[in-house]
Amino acid sequence: MNSKELINMALKARERSYSPYSKFEVGAALLASSGDVYLGCNIESAAFSPTCCAERTAFVKAVSEGCREFEAIAIVGAPHEKEPEVECPPCGVCRQVMAEFCAPDFKIILGAVDAPIEYTLDDLLPKSFGPGSL
Ligand code: THU
Repeated sequence: MNSKELINMALKARERSYSPYSKFEVGAALLASSGDVYLGCNIESAAFSPTCCAERTAFVKAVSEGCREFEAIAIVGAPHEKEPEVECPPCGVCRQVMAEFCAPDFKIILGAVDAPIEYTLDDLLPKSFGPGSL
């Protein structure tokens, strides 16, 4: 599974975004070490705070299915009816969830399908507090 393939899967996931309030549609494709891919979209709420980001939707799906080992995640986001052309970086809460389950070299793939950019979790959340900190 290369970066472009994973971005394409994130674009498919984005089609299911439920974002009537922000109208900002996000999709994520989470690659497990098993090779399985878990898709997620953002799911908003009229009460706002229950909103779940696309990345966390994908992690919750995977972990609740018994999967806890991950290699990479692709994330795409843009306003409704616009193509994701610029990077949509994960929010701080999603980065923290990644730190719970993923190694520092976990890949975070952002950007458009023709120009994916790869980061590591350590790039985006250095000196993180995680399970090893307790
Ligand atoms: N959003 C995500 O799905 N992932 C992020 O990491 C950043 C933000 C969603 C939440 C909300 O539905 C919309 O984007 C606007 O913030």
